[in-house]
Amino acid sequence: MTDNIYKNTPQNMEKAAAIIKNGGLVAFPTETVYGLGANVYNAQAVAAIFAAKQRPHFDPLISHIAEVDFLKEYAATDARVFALAKRFWPGPLTFVLKRVEENPAIDLACSGLRTLTVRMPRHPMALELIRKSGVPIVAPSANKYQSVSPTTAQHVADGLGDKVDMILDGGPCAVGVESTILDLTGPQVVMLRAGGTAKEDIEEFLGEEVLFSAGNPDLPSAPGQLLRHYAPRNVLRINVVRPDKDEYFIGFGKIDGDINLSPRGDVKEAAGNLFAYLRLADSSATRGKIAVAPVPRNGLGLAINDRLKRASYK
Ligand code: TXA
Ligand code: MG
Repeated sequence: MTDNIYKNTPQNMEKAAAIIKNGGLVAFPTETVYGLGANVYNAQAVAAIFAAKQRPHFDPLISHIAEVDFLKEYAATDARVFALAKRFWPGPLTFVLKRVEENPAIDLACSGLRTLTVRMPRHPMALELIRKSGVPIVAPSANKYQSVSPTTAQHVADGLGDKVDMILDGGPCAVGVESTILDLTGPQVVMLRAGGTAKEDIEEFLGEEVLFSAGNPDLPSAPGQLLRHYAPRNVLRINVVRPDKDEYFIGFGKIDGDINLSPRGDVKEAAGNLFAYLRLADSSATRGKIAVAPVPRNGLGLAINDRLKRASYK
């Protein structure tokens, strides 16, 4: 099997679940981006994730679940948490919750913090893998720390191929940007990362405004908040209407380029293409320069602008 990539067959799903259960690493598709998964209760496996990604240990991981019961055991929950879960799960929304017990089993996944970060993904292969392995699966995006997130199995193989036991192929990710992260530890809901669930949809459901905290870059509570993140190898310029001759140009809507995130100006479509096009630009930019057209900030446009800003930070 080239590049360690496996199709969605019952045998492959069984094999992947067994690897997770026994402390190995499996990259798997979610609706947002591909995740690098491990058994949340296996400290060695969790440590292997940090090592494979070259990610600092202070950066906590998201636990992916298929049933809400895990929350009841490990997190302080209330009616608001369950209402949000009922409305948005499975789907691209992550909760940061207070942990309830001094239960060390998941300490490493939580980077020793008193918070638990959790979501229920929507991709059927992700849900099946969690159910079959019988444990919550911690999974950061399956890319090297601070580089462009993977939205195909091949992206994972290109970046981390030799570091994972198995890569499950579920096709290109439908959403294309990571989940939205909500801090639910206090009375006011705070968005820590813009992502695949639109801020507007959350506000409409809650009937209140959601604060967006871009965070303190020197002390990020979500390293998605680091100034430089999601970065291509080439220099990236954003909000460009007229590119320089030597720039590979990623267009949006009517502003056309070498490639266009969404010719019809649809931010959802653009989110789905974003990371793949950044990779394509990286391999196509002959003079080491990339420029991107402006993308509106409504809906998933907020997440796109956030990723581009960090990707362009020098
Ligand atoms: O869509 C997603 O969320 C993907 C897929 C695989 O589920 N996962 C993902 O994980 O993006 P990762 O590790 O690449 O990004 C999670 C972000 C990190 O920036 C991390 O610092 C932040 O969430 N985070 C995790 N736990 C946190 C916590 N307790 N407080 C604040 N930020 C937290
Ligand atoms: Mg990531």
